[in-house]
Order: sequence, then C-alpha cells, then structure tokens
Amino acid sequence: MDDKHYSRRDFLTMAGVGGLVFASGLPGCASTGAGGQGDFSFVQLTDIHWGYGNPKVNPDTRGTLTKALAAVNALEQKPDFVVFTGDLTQTTDDPKVRRQRLREFQDMSRGLNVPVRYFAGEHDASLDRGEAYLEVFGGQLHYTFEHKGIHFIVLDNISDPAPILGAKQIAWLKDDLARQRPDQPIVVLTHRPLFAMYPQWDWATRDGQQAIDLLMPFKNVTVFYGHVHHEHHHNTGHIQHHASKAVMFPLSPVGSMANKTQLPWNAAQPYNGLGWRTVRATSGGAAQQMREYNIG
Ligand SMILES: [Fe+2]
Repeated sequence: MDDKHYSRRDFLTMAGVGGLVFASGLPGCASTGAGGQGDFSFVQLTDIHWGYGNPKVNPDTRGTLTKALAAVNALEQKPDFVVFTGDLTQTTDDPKVRRQRLREFQDMSRGLNVPVRYFAGEHDASLDRGEAYLEVFGGQLHYTFEHKGIHFIVLDNISDPAPILGAKQIAWLKDDLARQRPDQPIVVLTHRPLFAMYPQWDWATRDGQQAIDLLMPFKNVTVFYGHVHHEHHHNTGHIQHHASKAVMFPLSPVGSMANKTQLPWNAAQPYNGLGWRTVRATSGGAAQQMREYNIG
C-alpha cells in the first residue's frame, strides 16, 4: 500500500501513560513502539452495516467492505488479527433477515488472511439482546483475551438498549481487573463510547463511568470503539479513547450539525470519510501507534 492511501494525520503515537503525540505523516517518523521484539499490530474495522441501503449516502454498499478487506489483506506488515468493533450489520426488525445479514457478513469477513475477532453493535444485537449474533458467531457478548502481553477486554454496551453495561457485567469487569497486575497493559474494545461524548445522539454509555473508574488504577489503558462513524480521540484522565472511521457511512461530528446526520456521498470524492485503522503495540504496552486509512 503506498502513501497516498494515508490521511494527513497518519500516525498517532500514544506515548505511554496519558500523552497523545501526533507525529509526522511521513512513514518512519513515528518510531515509538516500533521495532521491539514481540511488537505486533492489529486492525480495527467498524460499523460495516451490512444490509444498509441508502444509495445517496453510499451507492457502493456491497463493494465498500470488499475494498476495505482487500486493503487489509494487502498490508505490507501483516497484522496479528483484525477486530470488528460492532455494527456488523444494519438493523432490521425481521429476525430472519438479521441472521441472513450476519451470515453474509461472516462469509465476507472470512476472506481476510489473518485471524478475526468480532463483537456486536446495537444494530446487530439490541433488538434481541444478541440472540441472532450469538447464534451465528457463538462465544459471548463480552469476553477477554490475551495477546503478546496485552490483556484485551471486550465490553458489551449494546445488547441492553438502555444503553448500559449493566450491574452484572460491571461486577464481571471488577472481578477480571482484580486478577490483573497494576502495570498490566489493557486494551478495551467496545462499540459505544464509554464516556459521555454526546448522549443526545446516543453517543454514550449510561454507566460507562463505572467501567472507567474501575480501569483508572491501571497505568496503561486504551479504549478503541466505533459507533460514532468518524475519527475521534479523547482522554479521561490517563485513559485514552479512540473512535475509528466507519466502513459503510460517515456521520457528522459533534457540533458540526444540529442533528446527527449521515453524510451524503460526494461523487468528486467517493468513499470520503470512510476508513479503518491499524494499531501497533509493543508487547509491554508501553507505547502504541495508530495509523488511519481511508477507503478508496
Ligand atoms: Fe454504526
């Protein structure tokens, strides 16, 4: 993949505890976290909305995901895995169609040449509390996994339409964190923002602050999420929260319009506002780099 595929702010170096440092867009300039033994990268793809159907917003609803998957497969540095951070499908009241969309999406994602992890967004799971999603993908709606020294925690803030994590999941999180060392690097993957980004637009998790409070004693915590369909970076204390662009359609950033708006397709700049990211992490989690990619 050549440099024209990168946005201007290609590199975001997350320098250890708390600090965000935007580095140069020139490949090689952001060297923090690169090169060490055990370094690895993963890809975040989010908000695919398979089954979405407004051609004024995206006339290439089937081709956009294909393009994104091909770009991931063509990455020069192969990621260790891809994670889809929810809204794999467009919501539907029809349980049959929901299952069909989930299966179609699953088939498409199997074209990736690296391991894949999934979790649901509210479009996939809020109407049936995740029943169809679990039927197709199995597993759990919230879970943890370890990868090269980093403890990954997937939080479900979508299956309860409130939207909340809920007391049971918060107790589960507390229990899980009680088993971690204070210096354990943690990456949280979730769909909605945990912080109150803009509750009027459903960009919040009502009890998300409880999760943030539980994570606060850990020195190295980064949250990656989707849902807001544009790139966004925020800190709650030393905890960093990063939203990725969506695959299917962009949404207006907070404050840019009176109402939450799906941004119309621009024929002069097709796929504008759509994208995905790579995250490179050291095994110690001391530093991470993100690189934002545009589709098209
Ligand atoms: Fe979405």
